[in-house]
Amino acid sequence: FLLDRASGGGGAPLYLQLKKNIEDAVRHGVIGPGDALPSERDIALKADVSRVTVRKAVQDLVKSGLLVQRHGSGTFVAPRRERVEQSLSRLTSFTDDMARRGMTASSVWLDKGIYPPSPDEMMVLGLSAKEMVARVSRLRIANDIPMAIERASLSVAALPDPGSVVSSLYATLEETGNRPIRAVQRISAVNLAGADARLLEVPDGSACLHIERISYLASGKVIEFTRSIYRGDAYDFVAELRLS
Ligand code: GLP
Repeated sequence: FLLDRASGGGGAPLYLQLKKNIEDAVRHGVIGPGDALPSERDIALKADVSRVTVRKAVQDLVKSGLLVQRHGSGTFVAPRRERVEQSLSRLTSFTDDMARRGMTASSVWLDKGIYPPSPDEMMVLGLSAKEMVARVSRLRIANDIPMAIERASLSVAALPDPGSVVSSLYATLEETGNRPIRAVQRISAVNLAGADARLLEVPDGSACLHIERISYLASGKVIEFTRSIYRGDAYDFVAELRLS
């Protein structure tokens, strides 16, 4: 399919013709969400264009979000996104939220360790400069789709061993009686770029949600200070409003 149309001419630069052919192939279902694109070499051979032309067309489509590139494994048609609807009135964990939708939550660890606290962490968690902070940072995935990046900070008293968090942070906290019972969540809009955009497999500049959660124990003590970035094309946050 690439050969016929790319060589079909029309005067437009070759990479634009090839780009259109790939877009058409996705639109017409010749290749579907999650499918691998043939290698750059194969496309160049079949379409009778140079590899530079293929690369240019593919890069454009990665930028526009139609294709995604995974290091070491190639280029794929971006998976179709089901939007996740999340209630804003219940304190749930990512693992719970995904399980409720019949999806499997997993994480890629970005960091877990003990560090001197930043000024923000000192203020929110009520730590002195001499105390330490436990950080767990993860790329959160649902059914193989990257959904969010979450960077959680907790006092070392609450999480002495960040290595003990295997999958669910809240499940680990529950084991020591430290699961939060209340949280304040602030949602703001961001345009994501750079390493975080690549982790979430979204084009540079994509609209995302920055979510800050400060959660509390029954005693009123802050237990968790988490800053997350959620994909704007994957989440709807829904709150029920009452007249009272
Ligand atoms: C949500 C919250 C985070 C919280 C996380 C815990 O996604 N935004 O603030 O840390 O859930 O999820 P889990 O228990 O699956 O690690």
